Amino acid sequence: MKPFFANLDMVKQRRMLKSFLNHVLGGRPYNGRSMAQAHAKLGLKDVHFDKVLHYLKAGMQKLGVAEEHSVQIIGIAETTRKDVLGKANECKGKCCVIE
Ligand code: HEM
Repeated sequence: MKPFFANLDMVKQRRMLKSFLNHVLGGRPYNGRSMAQAHAKLGLKDVHFDKVLHYLKAGMQKLGVAEEHSVQIIGIAETTRKDVLGKANECKGKCCVIE
């Protein structure tokens, strides 16, 4: 996993992920790139996506998030899999832009 994040500003990265999760969980609008655009050049596979969900779940467990909420949040994150992995070709990166 480390090489993907090697040259990134991790403060910005955390802020963007927080903003995106806030948005998909019903909070404020998200003004970053679409999931398809942001991940297009990374060559990501299911194994990478699974790992991120694993870390997300572990992080929530550590913070004491109730199991029922954690399951819901993982379910919502799961809905982004096709876009993040570039499998949602039919939309050509337009239909999945979150406004
Ligand atoms: C639940 C799945 C995921 C979500 C919700 C998510 C969310 C995000 C968000 C919000 C951004 C910022 C977009 C922007 O800059 O406008 C981003 C960028 C990025 N993500 Fe993810 N991500 C996910 C999965 C992954 C996975 C599996 C990897 C690799 C292991 C990854 C690696 C990256 C990298 C390297 C960037 C920065 C790309 C760049 O700046 O060029 N992400 N992601």
